[in-house]
Amino acid sequence: RTRPPVVFHWFPFIGSAIHYGMDPLGFFLSCREKYGNVFTFILLGRKVTVALGAAGNNFILGGKSNVFNAEDAYTHFTTPVFGKDVVYDCPNDKFMEQKKFIKYSLTGDRFREYVGMITEEVEGFIKKDETFAAYQANSKEWAKFDAVETLSQITILTAARTLQGKEVRDNLDKTFAHLYSDLDGGFKPINFLFPNLPLESYRARDRAHKKIADFYIDIIQKRKSGTTENVDDVMGYLMQQKYRNGQQIPDHEVAHMLIALLMAGQHTSSATGAWATLHIAENPELVEVMYAEQVKHFGNPDGSFREMTFEEMRDLPVLDAVIRETLRMHPPIHSIMRGVREDVPVPTSLASPDKEGGVYIIPKGNYTLASPIMSQMDPSIWVHPERFETARWTDPEGFAKQALRTYDDKDGEKIDFGFGLVSKGTESPYQPFGAGRHRCIGEQFAYLQLGVVLTTLVRHLEMKLGAPFPGNDYTTMITMPLAPRDVYYRRRP
Ligand code: HEM
Repeated sequence: RTRPPVVFHWFPFIGSAIHYGMDPLGFFLSCREKYGNVFTFILLGRKVTVALGAAGNNFILGGKSNVFNAEDAYTHFTTPVFGKDVVYDCPNDKFMEQKKFIKYSLTGDRFREYVGMITEEVEGFIKKDETFAAYQANSKEWAKFDAVETLSQITILTAARTLQGKEVRDNLDKTFAHLYSDLDGGFKPINFLFPNLPLESYRARDRAHKKIADFYIDIIQKRKSGTTENVDDVMGYLMQQKYRNGQQIPDHEVAHMLIALLMAGQHTSSATGAWATLHIAENPELVEVMYAEQVKHFGNPDGSFREMTFEEMRDLPVLDAVIRETLRMHPPIHSIMRGVREDVPVPTSLASPDKEGGVYIIPKGNYTLASPIMSQMDPSIWVHPERFETARWTDPEGFAKQALRTYDDKDGEKIDFGFGLVSKGTESPYQPFGAGRHRCIGEQFAYLQLGVVLTTLVRHLEMKLGAPFPGNDYTTMITMPLAPRDVYYRRRP
């Protein structure tokens, strides 16, 4: 029974780790040329079978969880950070219930309040942080901020205020910031590759996990005993939920779910925010188009703005296109992995049959990898995929028609990817939030957070770039812009 071809490598254990780690997109492109859409590469002793393209995404993300298993691929990395009995440290059925609780805690009335909270945090930041001294001094000169630093700080402040609750937000300026930084220090590619090394960063990760979990459990218990007021936030919601078997969610699981939310949302959103800010600053006209969109919908006669609602925000085509196009070119998670639990045949539609006409078999014990970035940057689907073009999503008549090709899905049906008509299915080539049973539940929140952050910046600042657009740093797990990533800003008159 034929295995998929193995990518040539010089060193047995290391395999293709360096090429993949430094430049996954370039690595996949060169492998596709040599081996086709399905091949196996060695990643520090692991055998990883890649299935490229929308058909590859569909094969892996649409597969059954007892065949392609997420826990097997991720638990060694996530459990020391999130904690026990949640996400990938419990049976998948239980995690699916947890996902549902979190999903329902992130809608409706809470979202309405979040718009005001996020606006307040961003305005508070530019009115206080020293990077925005020129803004505060009302200077007419251009000054600069580092897109990654600034968006990362704004993301944690806004996520803490909304998702994590008042207690965490109030402690962010004090103890919590250090703990978070230690925990985050254990959420890096090295931790993915080597779950346990006798290094200080690993010990700091474990200490930070324990202290943060205890911090949450203490709040939960104070709320339960009435020592602190009960609050209708995500923690308050989770505290009231019951699993299908009637069990209330234990305190440590509520705590661990909140840590998981913090980690799942932080780098993904802050990287997207940084890339989006760089893209709009690269094209100052686009900043002004976004500003005009704000003035048109929310401008008051005196030049101030009224608050937008979440629903109104989703109706702003330019803002929406900026976020979508950023996520197309820079999906924070470029590789989605699964552990293979039983031998799986690769569909012939995905990989041509071997010499004897048999199909490839991916053996049990391998890992599989789907890569949204490959299908999102594929020139056979997107015209000039390397160009940041908001018109792909906004202009049904003009650019979109030429820029987006229709795409045959697995049943031969045509899907039109113009004007935002992107299917959310496992067969879609546009998958910044994944697809199938493990699909992201934070998408709505991410749009809300990014939308309010970007519009608040645009309402206050003119922006431009001072250097060529930065390249990709893939070594950080979540793809980040390489330095320099300065954005020049000037306070609006
Ligand atoms: C799953 C991307 C923000 C919570 C995923 C997956 C992707 C993704 C690609 C699928 C992973 C897989 O199949 O292995 C993103 C991006 C974000 C974002 C691009 C922001 C721009 C968030 C936020 C939260 C969140 C803000 C929480 C509030 C989750 C959860 C899962 C998930 C709970 C489910 C994991 C699973 O079922 O295995 N996300 N995410 N994400 N995300 Fe997000």
